Amino acid sequence: MTSLNNNINLLKYITPEKYINFFKKYPRLQNLLKFKNKILRNYLINFYFRLVKKNKKLKFFFLDESKEINQINFKSKDLFENNKHILESLAYNGIVILEEAINSNEREKILRYFDEIENKNISSEWINNEIINASVVKYKNNNDLEIFCMKKNLNYLPKLSKLIDCVTKEVFGNKVDTIAEFFFHKCKNIENPDLQEDTKFHLDRYLPCLKIIYSPNSIDHSNAPFGYIKKTHKLNNNFMKNFMLNSKKFFVNENELNENLKKNALSLTCPANSLIITFTNGLHKRNIFKKKNSRRTIFFQFTDNFNFFSLLNHKKYN
Ligand SMILES: [Fe+2]
Repeated sequence: MTSLNNNINLLKYITPEKYINFFKKYPRLQNLLKFKNKILRNYLINFYFRLVKKNKKLKFFFLDESKEINQINFKSKDLFENNKHILESLAYNGIVILEEAINSNEREKILRYFDEIENKNISSEWINNEIINASVVKYKNNNDLEIFCMKKNLNYLPKLSKLIDCVTKEVFGNKVDTIAEFFFHKCKNIENPDLQEDTKFHLDRYLPCLKIIYSPNSIDHSNAPFGYIKKTHKLNNNFMKNFMLNSKKFFVNENELNENLKKNALSLTCPANSLIITFTNGLHKRNIFKKKNSRRTIFFQFTDNFNFFSLLNHKKYN
């Protein structure tokens, strides 16, 4: 009787929604790190890698050996007209910058949206009208940096939306929807290096992870440029494989970087109106603010809409 009761209790816990919610999520490194047993960890990694291999586009970017292309900066119009070189560079390096991303009308409209956040005077339509204080959520007691975030539907940004659709089709094999996350960073005191985890090289996920960042203004070395270590997005990269198997944390301290990684580290300063396309399963970070300054960036992420189901359902993407 007790065993029957236990089974009934167990059934109550295992509901179909819980299964569905689990599969809807894109696997997180934090979950992998919970497996202390290396054999199990290795088994899980290989299971996911075999799934990735079934998607031809993902295989091209994340598993195949790529042609060496050292050019990182391109013009956005080339994405529609002649994108072979851009895609080969993205596959080889794990990052490209598209300059002259959108027309000046849409860029100026974006700057006005940022003014709404900065002046705390919301007048246009947002997904939620509340300004999120992301620094409180992310950094707890850090008073050096304020980060405000708001989310907008991509219908309001048609030119960016067109670029993003083109990138997702090329990377995933089919269009993947997303929203625009506006981040306004305001540095009140010059930051200390290595204080926060996202200012150290880290990975967001251990499986193919696309992130696109739009910067309406130029970014120089003082206002927190994006940092990236080229080629670490490849799933068969030795350092990354070793890191995934043995690490207890999802970031790498500066003294743990070998010479080869240091040689491939980039600090991505960019001109105004640039789109950074990158794979954040590779090692990346936000460099610290070296001056009291601000930064306006829009982030586009895809892990909600390209998830474990999408890896299983590879026919839809091939
Ligand atoms: Fe990250």
